[in-house]
Amino acid sequence: MNSEELTVKKIRDGTVIDHIPGGQALNVLRILGITGEEGHTVAIMINAQSRKLGKKDIVKIEGRELVSGEVDRIALIAPEATINLVKNYRVARKTKVKLPDEIKGLLKCTNPNCISNKPREPVTPSFRVVSRTPTLLVCEYCGTYITYDEVAAQYTLPG
Ligand code: CTP
Ligand code: ZN
Repeated sequence: MNSEELTVKKIRDGTVIDHIPGGQALNVLRILGITGEEGHTVAIMINAQSRKLGKKDIVKIEGRELVSGEVDRIALIAPEATINLVKNYRVARKTKVKLPDEIKGLLKCTNPNCISNKPREPVTPSFRVVSRTPTLLVCEYCGTYITYDEVAAQYTLPG
C-alpha cells in the first residue's frame, strides 16, 4: 500500500490524473478550467511521495471525463501525467498525456514584440515542440524558445 491510498480514497466514476509534478495540481485544474463551481467532487493531493518523480500531485475528479484536447493540454504542465478513466471503481482506460506537435492559442509568446502579442493583429499564438523531455517550445512567428518553467508560470496566478 502506498501513502496516497492512505489519504485519498478511490473514486467511483470519473478521472484520476496521476504523476503530476509536485506542486502543479492547481495549475492542472486551471488548464482544465475547473474552478470548483461546477459541482464535481475533486480531491487534490499535493506533494505525495513517488518513487518515479520524488514528489507528485494527484487530482481526482468524480463524475467528469476528459476529452482528448484536454488530455493534450495537461501535457503542458504535467508531461509525465497518466489519465485514468475510472468506471465503477476500476481503471477502465489509462492514457499517457502527449504534447501535440503544434500548440495553438494556449500560451502567449514571451517576446513582447512578437506579432502574436500585438493587439491589432488577429494572430493566434502558435508553438512547435522542439523537445518533450524537458519541454521546449518555439514560437512559430518569432522563433523565441519557451521553457517548461515559462509555460508553468503562465498558468500560475500571481501572488
Ligand atoms: N484510483 C482511484 N479510484 C479508483 C481507481 C484508481 O482513485 N476507483 C487511482 C489510484 O489511487 C491511482 C490511479 O487512480 O492513483 C491509478 O490507479 P491504478 O492504475 O490502479 O494504479 P497504478 O497501477 O499504481 O498506476 P500507474 O501504473 O499509472 O502508476
Ligand atoms: Zn513569438
